[in-house]
Amino acid sequence: MPPEANDTVLIGPFHQVQSPARLLALSDARGHRLLVEAWAPDLVRIRFVPPGSVPTISWALARPRSEWPEDFPVRVEATASGWRLSTPALTAEVASATGALALRAAGGLEPFVQHDPECPFRHDTSTVGLSLRAVLPAGAMCLGLGEKTGWLDRRGRILEMWNTDVLPHLPDTDPLYQSIPFVIVYQEGRAFGLFLHNTHRSRFDLGFTQPERLEAWVGGGELDYFILAGPSLEHVVRGFTDLTGRMPLPPRWALGYQHSRWGLHDADQVRELAAEMRRRRVPCDVIYLDIDYMDGYRVFTWDPARFPDPDALLSDLAAQGYRVVTIVDPGVRIDDEYPVYREGIAKGVMCRKADGRPFEGVVWPGPTVWPDFLRADARRWWGSWIARQLTRRGVAGIWNDMNEPASFRHPLPTGTLDPDVMHGPDEEREDTTERRELLHAEGHNVYGLLMSQSAFESQLAARPDRRPFVLTRAGFAGVQRYAAVWTGDNSSWWEHLTMMGPELINLGLSGVAFAGADVGGFTRHTSGELLARWTWAGAFTPFMRNHSAIETRRQEVWRFGPEIEAICREAIEWRYRLLPYLYTLAWESSSLGTPIMRPLFWDHPGDAAAARVQDQWMLGPHLVVAPITQPAATHRAAYLPAGEWVHLWQPVRILGPAHALVDAPLSHIPVFARAGAVVPLGPVAQHTGELAADARISLYVTAPSPGSAMSCWTWLYEDEGDGFGYRQGRFSRRRFEARWSPGERAADLALALVCSPREGSWSPPRRWLEVVIARAGRPPASVRWAGDAVPPSQGPLRPVTMGPADPAEAASGEWAQAPGWHYDEALDVLVVRFGEAPSESALEVDWRGAP
Ligand code: GLC
Repeated sequence: MPPEANDTVLIGPFHQVQSPARLLALSDARGHRLLVEAWAPDLVRIRFVPPGSVPTISWALARPRSEWPEDFPVRVEATASGWRLSTPALTAEVASATGALALRAAGGLEPFVQHDPECPFRHDTSTVGLSLRAVLPAGAMCLGLGEKTGWLDRRGRILEMWNTDVLPHLPDTDPLYQSIPFVIVYQEGRAFGLFLHNTHRSRFDLGFTQPERLEAWVGGGELDYFILAGPSLEHVVRGFTDLTGRMPLPPRWALGYQHSRWGLHDADQVRELAAEMRRRRVPCDVIYLDIDYMDGYRVFTWDPARFPDPDALLSDLAAQGYRVVTIVDPGVRIDDEYPVYREGIAKGVMCRKADGRPFEGVVWPGPTVWPDFLRADARRWWGSWIARQLTRRGVAGIWNDMNEPASFRHPLPTGTLDPDVMHGPDEEREDTTERRELLHAEGHNVYGLLMSQSAFESQLAARPDRRPFVLTRAGFAGVQRYAAVWTGDNSSWWEHLTMMGPELINLGLSGVAFAGADVGGFTRHTSGELLARWTWAGAFTPFMRNHSAIETRRQEVWRFGPEIEAICREAIEWRYRLLPYLYTLAWESSSLGTPIMRPLFWDHPGDAAAARVQDQWMLGPHLVVAPITQPAATHRAAYLPAGEWVHLWQPVRILGPAHALVDAPLSHIPVFARAGAVVPLGPVAQHTGELAADARISLYVTAPSPGSAMSCWTWLYEDEGDGFGYRQGRFSRRRFEARWSPGERAADLALALVCSPREGSWSPPRRWLEVVIARAGRPPASVRWAGDAVPPSQGPLRPVTMGPADPAEAASGEWAQAPGWHYDEALDVLVVRFGEAPSESALEVDWRGAP
């Protein structure tokens, strides 16, 4: 718990001790050490080390220190009051009296990080705690911190890092299932990040006790932290994902719609669900099997009576285009007849108490023991069961649950393993000093991360030509390297739909780009209206899965009558239309760490009004999503940042920056596209397997107002959708730049859409490229493709996105037909089609001179 002042040990003054280059090493008379080390020009690691403490085991970090480039200059020098360490991007001044640091960006005046000059560090003996104190600039926001309840800005709260199973959670419940001790301090486009590199219970006081002070406390180990200097939010998030890793490119099916239900009692119920989904033409890629499939909740078993033939079930579902993801819980039933238990005990890979006996608790199967994922041999052993019982049978992904780890032996929400349970050593740690035993108090927060590593690596080994898929409830900084995250047991409350936005945005800013919430809500009974609003909002989040708890009302989209069913179906169909855009965003995130779902100020850093918006988000750079989070709403206020924005489904055009009152019928939520920008869309499919032979793409653009001048570009990334060929260059990447120019008359407009040459060695099947220009208001005067005039087509051209995936049509050779265009006056949509060429080419559409 936070320390009391009278336990505080005196710290300082410091003197310099000899140290290698790049490192400023200091010590005081009581043996406190302070180490300041530059890892990159904009990244410093600071360690405040009391005597006798052990260094952090760096499970959170994607690569060891030795793999960081050292090709930048670092200077360490003495100053009048202490020392200075400088890189080309930052300067850290350390005061010899107290060890207080002030960090400045190169050339800047303001320190962007300033320790409390009087009391920068506290070392408290009675509570075994260390803390740091820094100045929180007036007006700055506190973002990141992973999965937390509440609004986007966390300032004014105390937040704790201790993975916890908590049901139900309320708007201020803390902590939840994940711990990412990383805070971003953001103000008017400038940001810095502070990552506590420590796995013990930790706590951030973000201006709660004193409005202008940030205090970070760790319950054990060293006070080890990184400062990311920014200066922009994008720099900080990119830097943090450089440090802790990025999401691997997911298989494309994992971006499709997914359905789950706790309480699908037997294989017949699963089959019925699957058949009903297809019969009603509700697109879906994944069906989840919750704990019901197991025999007495014994992990890695199938109930012989209720799921008698898992292979047949899996292959029947595969034949209908479904992937199956099974839940895996870490609690292993104590049962001498049960091979997983017997083997785990015999191999000595279970978590143990100090006397060497396995720690026992209670979860779904009754009395249980837990594998020690903090050991490489335990991870591999667990992985061998995943491979044998699940992956090799055809299970497409692993859903890791209860991995905080949760135990029912103690009442929730505190129930977990005892603090003196022993873990480790992890023989896979490269740094031999990290191969040590540790107590649960230190290992607790990384249990879920390492369980996910086990599931990820096991799938990779069992099926090396397929991308692994893991969904996890618990995690720590770096979890994105192995798993997608869902936000645990939410409830079918409007408040939880509201909270989904800030929660997922902050997860994205904390490195976890591939995240989602249970659509429709997990506990409590949903309503048709809530499900409709949530399904629409969920379609515009990175990971989309409808999941609900046993004994709640069934939550398939057809359970609330035909109107709700049709509304939800359309939302899910939009999910499939969006796949080319979503997949491109996933690729961008896996390469650069960019969040898929972003706060409005990500792309509009100078916009103070955008920084206040907590109930909207951007999906990628070109879509603003304004979910409806109240019952009976018919309108909502939305904020649109600078630029022109076009409502996707209504004849509404807004010139930002502006607040607008927008219509919100139950049928759709308000979503705005950046006028003039290309959003790559595809056909509606019942599942992504249908798209294998249908790579048609629609480059959807909403026309800016006549007289506009602007240019804007978009990537389109494509590949086989699974496997690792893309790492050998088997992908296709093109850049589409839309350049809009005005003409002489106010009503004039012209577009040059420049398609960059295709990069990468993978080619989609030969196809036409379809450009759909919406809201231009009239037919064009001329259309040219690669310099040649394109004639109007003989008949109407139906946009790809308006029809179902149709491999026959895609393969019909229609791409080879002469290019053509068609303007549909009723829809106000111009469709232009032409055969795709791999080289650079341009489409020119000119409304100048058109009537
Ligand atoms: C936990 C999970 C939930 C799952 C249930 C039964 O509560 O969070 O998603 O359905 O356990 O396995």
